[in-house]
Amino acid sequence: MMHAVVVEGMPPWAPAAALLGPGPWRETAPGRFEAMLSTPAAAALGAALRGQGLGGRLPSVEMAPPVPRAAVRAARLADARARRDTTPGFTRPGVRLDDEGRYSWTPEALALDLARAWPPREVWDLGCGAGGNAIGFARAGHRVVAVERDAGRLADARHNARVYGVAASIRFVEADAVAYVTEHLARAPDPVLLFVDPPWGVAWNRTRTTLADLPLLAAVLAARNGRALLAKVPPSFDPASVPVAGLTSRAVLGLAPGDARRVKFVVLEAPAG
Ligand SMILES: C[S@@+](CC[C@H](N)C(=O)[O-])C[C@H]1O[C@@H](n2cnc3c(N)ncnc32)[C@H](O)[C@@H]1O
Repeated sequence: MMHAVVVEGMPPWAPAAALLGPGPWRETAPGRFEAMLSTPAAAALGAALRGQGLGGRLPSVEMAPPVPRAAVRAARLADARARRDTTPGFTRPGVRLDDEGRYSWTPEALALDLARAWPPREVWDLGCGAGGNAIGFARAGHRVVAVERDAGRLADARHNARVYGVAASIRFVEADAVAYVTEHLARAPDPVLLFVDPPWGVAWNRTRTTLADLPLLAAVLAARNGRALLAKVPPSFDPASVPVAGLTSRAVLGLAPGDARRVKFVVLEAPAG
């Protein structure tokens, strides 16, 4: 059986082709995609998009005729199994992580890609956790100031940087990140890149998050004084909640079979000026 499938609510910065999968798809209005899909393909799409808010809203998925319940159940089970194989975090043996460090790290390969998008400069990683991004920036040739208020996690970040051979490129600072920016930004080199991967909370809202859910990001944005800022925010984050002119958003997908069709996080960029 074939189904007429209509997906609405894809933000313009979302990689629609990767998220929607095999089509062919037609974009019939901004953010609205249509295709004729077989029952297994339609069921797989429904399972993949289920509950995944993007840019502050849940994309809607309409199928006519509806996909039979048995096919829906089979697709959800297959999707849940496939999701186990996701992009690895730190891959080197000997890395140290507490619980928060483990669930909040940026997978090593994604941190490296993110860092390589910028010419080498000084990067301030504000709330560096166990060091996933700080290490990625250092491996990409940047000098890094890694600020973290949790002494144990900062010690883990320092240890992990040694494991990756980049400790000499990172200055570790135990401090409140907002106080650090407020006190030191006037003396920062130009250009400097401020980076924030704020805590999302374990139970972050999969449908919609806004700047009000990420107080560390809100405080650093308020204190950045015209310096360029990069932030890693949840897929469900609504960029319209950030009152910054010229803000851009970019969705980052995973690299493993279980997350290659899933937005792992969104990168916001607030330009200098
Ligand atoms: C999501 S984790 C960072 C993960 C890191 N990017 C990685 O890939 O390993 C956020 C970190 O911000 C720290 N943090 C939150 N608020 C802070 C503040 N005001 N000052 C300094 N650190 C803060 C938390 O302790 C936590 O370790």
